[in-house]
Amino acid sequence: MEKVLIINGPNLNLLGNREKNFYGKTTLNNIKLICEEQCRKNKIECNFLQTNHEGELIEKIHLATNDYAGIIINPAAYTHTSIAILDALRAINKPKIEVHISNIYAREDYRRKSVTSEAVDGIICGFGEKGYALAIDAIKNLIHIKNND
Ligand code: DQA
Repeated sequence: MEKVLIINGPNLNLLGNREKNFYGKTTLNNIKLICEEQCRKNKIECNFLQTNHEGELIEKIHLATNDYAGIIINPAAYTHTSIAILDALRAINKPKIEVHISNIYAREDYRRKSVTSEAVDGIICGFGEKGYALAIDAIKNLIHIKNND
C-alpha cells in the first residue's frame, strides 16, 4: 500500500492551547486521528509526526526518497524562513503538499510569504484541521496521476 509522510513543524504540538483564535481548539492528536481516518478512506498508509527542530524536519523529508509516495507538510514558522527546508523538499521528486491551519495570506505581513511552497505541488490553507483531510485527498490524486504517467 502507498505510504504518505505527514510532517508537522515547530509549536504544532501545542495545538489546542495555542492561539485558539487562529488554530481553533483541535489538538495535534485530533489531527492525527483525522489523517489516519482519511488515509484509510483513500486506501493509503500514513506516518504522522511532529518536531520542533529544523534539522530533524529535513532528515524526515529525506526519508521520502525511498520510503514514501508523497509528503504532506505543515512547516509552521519555518514556512516563512527556511531555505534549508525548501532545498530538502526540492530534492524529493514525489508529490508534495503544504498545509496551514490558518490562512497565512490573511495574517501578518511576515506570514504572507511561503518560502517552502516553491517546492510543492500545491498549498491548502485556511480550512482549519480539515485542510489535512483535503491534502490527503489531493495527494492521493497526485500519486495516482504520477503512477499512470
Ligand atoms: C501555521 C502558520 C504559520 O505562520 C505559523 O508559524 C504556525 C502554524 C498554520 O498551520 O496556520 O505555526 O503553519
